[in-house]
Formats: sequence, C-alpha cells, structure tokens
Amino acid sequence: MAGPAASAPPRTQLVGIGAYLPARVVTNDELAQRVDTSDAWIRERTGIRQRHLAAPHESCAFMATAAARAALADAGVAAAAVDGIIVATATPDQAFPAVAVRVQAALGASGFGFDISAACSGFIYALSVADGMIRAGQARTMLVIGAEVYSRIMNWDDRGTCVLFGDGAGAVLVRAGEAGDARGSGVGEPGILSTHLHAQGDLGDILFVDGAVGQPDRPGHLVMKGNEVFRHAVTKLASAVSEALAVNGLDHNDVDWLVPHQANLRIIEAIGKRLGLAPDRVVVTVDQHANTSAASIPLALAQAYGDGRIKRGDLVLMEALGGGLTWGSALVRL
Ligand code: UT7
Repeated sequence: MAGPAASAPPRTQLVGIGAYLPARVVTNDELAQRVDTSDAWIRERTGIRQRHLAAPHESCAFMATAAARAALADAGVAAAAVDGIIVATATPDQAFPAVAVRVQAALGASGFGFDISAACSGFIYALSVADGMIRAGQARTMLVIGAEVYSRIMNWDDRGTCVLFGDGAGAVLVRAGEAGDARGSGVGEPGILSTHLHAQGDLGDILFVDGAVGQPDRPGHLVMKGNEVFRHAVTKLASAVSEALAVNGLDHNDVDWLVPHQANLRIIEAIGKRLGLAPDRVVVTVDQHANTSAASIPLALAQAYGDGRIKRGDLVLMEALGGGLTWGSALVRL
C-alpha cells in the first residue's frame, strides 16, 4: 500500500487520460443467435447492452498503443518523455515480450516496460506500482495502461461467460510532482492519495483461464463461478472503498466520483449505495463496453472525463475485483 505520510515525496499526478475501443459493436441480440440467451436476461442480470469486439488486427498491443497515444495527447506530453510503461493485461498477445515493450517500440519511447497480471484488478495494481516507482525516484513519467482482448479467451459456447466480456484499452499518463513542490500532503491537492491492494489465492479456482493462452492445440478459456465471484465482489469491494477513505481521513461525502470496475451493474449499484453516492456520481459503462477486465476503469475514466462530467480537482475513487481473487482501490485527486 502506498499511502500519505508527512515526509512523503510530492504526490504522483495523473496528467493524461486516453482510451481505445474496437469499431465492431456486438449486441445482446446478436449473441442470442449463437447461444441460448436473450437481451432481456443479459440486461436484467448484468446491465450489459452491447460490447466492442476486436478485429484480427486489433491486438492487445495495438489497442494499448492507441490508448497510450490518446493519453499522451491529452497531457500534451511527447512519447520521448515517457520513461516507464506498465500494461495490465490478462490477454497479452504473446507470453513474451511484454505488451508494454511492444507499446514502447510503437511509441518510440525509452526507459523500461513490463506487464502486470492481476486480471480485472490489473489497472489498480499497475497504478499502485507506478505510483510507488515514481515516489521512489525510479521513474518520472509513466504510462499505465489496461488493455484486454477477452474475446480471444472466451468459450463462445458458454452462455454463462461469453455474454459478459468485451475488448478495449484505457491509459493514463502519470508524472512525478515537481521537485521541491510543497504540495502533496493535503487531501485537496492533486495526485494519487493512496492505493490498496489485496489478493486471496485460495479463491483462484472460482475465476480462471484453463488450458494455455496462445496455444491453438490447448486454447485457454475463461471459466467462472459467477454467483460466487459476485458474493465476494460486493463484500470485498465495499471494504476496499472504506479502507481508501479511512486511510485518508475522508468519508463518502468527500468523493466526487466512483469509477468502478465494470463487471455487473448490480455490483456497481451496491457499492455506490454503500458509499451513499447519488447514481449520477457513479460512472457506468458496463452497458456499452461490458466487462473489459483491466481496461474497464481507465475506459470509464476516459469516457466521463472526455464528456466533461469528471473535472480537474475532482476526487475519484476507483475499485476493482477479479481473478485471483485480486482486488483493490485507489483514491485520486485529478
Ligand atoms: O470481472 C471479474 C469479476 N466478475 C464478476 O464480478 C462477475 C460476478 N458475477 C456476475 O456478474 C453474475 O453472477 C453473473 C452475471 C455472471 C450471473 O448472474 P447470476 O444472477 O449470478 O446468475 P446465475 O449464474 O446464478 O445463473 C442463474 C440462471 C442459471 O439457470 P438455472 O440454473 O437457474 O436454471 C443459468 O444457467 O441463469 C442461467 N444463465 C443464463 N440464462 C440466459 C446463465 N447465463 C445465462 C445467459 N442467458 N447468458
């Protein structure tokens, strides 16, 4: 956990936000032609209306690069200034090299790059690692990207999972606070206030990928005991958001926006209610994107920031839970 401390270096600032979605939109009705499901069931149980699915050329690295370029453009920062790239993904194009170094090459950036595997919590994990590295002085300007092509690990005959996921990528550019900057300790100052990471490995078998990813003779497919994951999600996410607020001496009234992982509208609404947040303070994209795993938070952030709902100075609470189980939260003043 990286939390505030009196003598801490200046906060890591989140200075750019970007996203990429594949052009192809697949509706629930289209899926109902393939498996025994219906638009009504999917909307009622999950809130999902459609998802974007990648075309063959839209690899994980391709989408991650596009989102990274958008985040750099938003920040007005050149790729040459980036000295570290982290990609959170459970669906890399290859076992190695990492998606992050493919992105580095495409951008013409230098420094270091690596991927993080924490399933749907990957973006929170990656943000936490980047924050720690920047505060430790190991990097100054980093891209933190969530990019996923879950369509490639779906069992398209399993109605219990294939209707739930989508593809896409989101990115943020984070930068060290200025040296000697006195700002950074008050909760009103911009930057990452704290991040909180958790894992419980003995729950690894309720959401996992079988077989081996990338091996055509032994393809890996996502397997999920949905209702068990659901139960854990509600309690663990509620505790992760409480933890983030308590560590910073804040309560729900201080939060401007909840930007949750987008797995299921019922989970999102339950956490929003626990926080006492009005529904219009909770960013929902699951209806349009479905569950894009590690990409879902930066995609949701990019949408609400891009349409002007989330503004600079707002306090944004993010949370996610995914395979592992892994879960966590992050509190960021934009
Ligand atoms: O991002 C990582 C974290 N993931 C999550 O947080 C996901 C958490 N879980 C969920 O969102 C929900 O559990 C699901 C949306 C996956 C499932 O909803 P549920 O209300 O928990 O349904 P269920 O799995 O208990 O299934 C209820 C019924 C079953 O039929 P029977 O056994 O009651 O006859 C399923 O076979 O719904 C059936 N079902 C479907 N019916 C139509 C399952 N999938 C479908 C489907 N269409 N696509």
